[in-house]
Amino acid sequence: RLFRELQEIEGRHPEWVTPDSPSQRVGGEPATGFRPVPHVVPMLSLDNAVSEEEVRAFDERVRRFLKTADPVRYVAEPKYDGVAVELLYEDGAFVLGSTRGDGRTGEDITQNLRTVRSIPLRLQADRPPPLLEVRGEVFMPLEAFDQLNRERLDRGLEPFANPRNATAGTLRQLDPRVAAARPLNLFVYAIGRGGEAFGVRTHGELLAQLGELGLKVNPRVAQSLGLDGAIEFHRALEADRDGLAYEADGTVIKVDDFAVRENLGELERSPRWAIAYKFAPRQEVTRVLDIRAYVGRTGTLTPVTVLEPVRMGGVTVTHASLHNQDEVDKLDARVGDTVLVQRAGDVIPKVVHVIHEQRPEGTRPYQLPDRCPECGAVTVRLPDEVAIRCPNLSCPAQVRERLRHFASRTALDIDGLGEKLVDQLVERRLVHRPSDLFALRRETLVELDRMGEKSAENLLAQIEQARGTSLARFLYALGIRHVGRRVATVLAAHLGTLERLLQATREELESMSEVGPTIAESVRTYLADPDNRAEIDRLRRELTFGEPSAPEPRARPLEGKTIVLTGTLSEPRARVRTRIEQAGGVVTSALSQRTDYLVAGESPGSKHRKAEELGIPILDEEALRKLLEPEPD
Ligand code: IVH
Repeated sequence: RLFRELQEIEGRHPEWVTPDSPSQRVGGEPATGFRPVPHVVPMLSLDNAVSEEEVRAFDERVRRFLKTADPVRYVAEPKYDGVAVELLYEDGAFVLGSTRGDGRTGEDITQNLRTVRSIPLRLQADRPPPLLEVRGEVFMPLEAFDQLNRERLDRGLEPFANPRNATAGTLRQLDPRVAAARPLNLFVYAIGRGGEAFGVRTHGELLAQLGELGLKVNPRVAQSLGLDGAIEFHRALEADRDGLAYEADGTVIKVDDFAVRENLGELERSPRWAIAYKFAPRQEVTRVLDIRAYVGRTGTLTPVTVLEPVRMGGVTVTHASLHNQDEVDKLDARVGDTVLVQRAGDVIPKVVHVIHEQRPEGTRPYQLPDRCPECGAVTVRLPDEVAIRCPNLSCPAQVRERLRHFASRTALDIDGLGEKLVDQLVERRLVHRPSDLFALRRETLVELDRMGEKSAENLLAQIEQARGTSLARFLYALGIRHVGRRVATVLAAHLGTLERLLQATREELESMSEVGPTIAESVRTYLADPDNRAEIDRLRRELTFGEPSAPEPRARPLEGKTIVLTGTLSEPRARVRTRIEQAGGVVTSALSQRTDYLVAGESPGSKHRKAEELGIPILDEEALRKLLEPEPD
């Protein structure tokens, strides 16, 4: 936003433009350490639009420039939030890969790009063009990014702030083995030199050609749209934003016809024929009005900022989490501070950093209270935990949160039991624990605020229905630490009945895939507690789990599938094979038309290529794991 403001001011006062103004350069500075690579056709930037009006203004500019009232044909594609690269192919061979740099000179990152699977080392063509410069965006898929950050945290390393940083960091590694271990991906969207060989007239035709050469084109590119179609594409993409496998920060709308592009030409920084229509920002600057401690289901105190309300990605944000005291200390967030807040997906907004320059006088560091704000119990910090907790199990906040969790959609799914209602039930001491819900009576309910006959009946009907829940949901609903939906599903599928869980030894628990010592310990500790046992007994009398030992429908997700393994996998092949067979699949050694999937590890070799030729879906280990995972019901 500051950049746009700068551009706008410089537009009005060209005499104020200094040689070192950020508007005077296209991208980042070429850094040292990698050989500089000149871009013969400069790699330009894109002008931005942040509203529909600005996109319409772009279209008007285009048509004014072309002196036409006729509609212009556009293409729309996601604006990938990664690292722009240029790939040089000579006689079909990938010989040089570079970053965008400042647009005119980038850096030679060929070695690292060679490790990116979706970059073909050789183009698929009998007579490839003598020279072709392909442009696209390298990015780290979100799953891989999360995985990488988990590993980094485990190893005590600082996690990457976002997938783009992770990608840029990976591409600038001096040791290509590091890049090889991180699954980067690429979508191509343009070319530099070498286009003559194709004789293509539109962007759509170009992408089709690039695809045929074995380059990776995103299927989610819409061709030949009117302006309204492009705007519609943008809306749909933004709605799907959280479901995409990669990070995108907007839509690039480009004139489809190359001859028209030629006519329009380019400005210093950006072409006249394209615009980046940005999504609503998910980061905003706002002020911290207060910091409060919230007590969760397990008694953990979470510091949460109360913010000056700010619009962000379509919603108004009024609170953002600071996670724990360590995070507060690290950020040094204080009441009165100006902060950068981020909202990603459906995750609770969080404070990314404090703008220290804007801190007012007289602020004080924030410290979580040493007494629970809800019940006054002295808070504790267990030796090797970051969390500070309220140890009082009957703390009203904990009771409330446990009930909310118990009734939540993914647990017992008692829709009518909303937050306000739980508050009332706990406040009036009508409910102390989940099992009390099953003793609620109509006469009691109708006495509550905002509760009519009808809603009381609906609620009772829902509670009635919840009695027939599944074992997996029940285990999850208990709120045992470290037992999320997945683990609950695994436990239920393996043990079949609650009785067996109550008797399970630690060894038995740990023998299940995905149940490690921490989970086993947590389950045992939970079950060893007499209060918890008593509550389970009470609940057991209220509930009947449907079909205890029937196999979960998704337990054999690979039923009838034929799978071939290739390359070096991260665990012994025999183990992978067993897992596939347990899921109903068959592992064979030779690829054929009948193969359903090729699972490719490191250095996959010729099978990879053959599978591509046969059009057999290729999975990495992560994708296989997802197929094998029993979905929570
Ligand atoms: S076309 C002259 N298409 O956005 C325009 N760029 O701000 C050439 N980008 O450096 C680029 N997704 O890194 C194009 N689908 C897409 C893109 C895209 C992301 C990036 C690219 C470029 C930057 C410009």
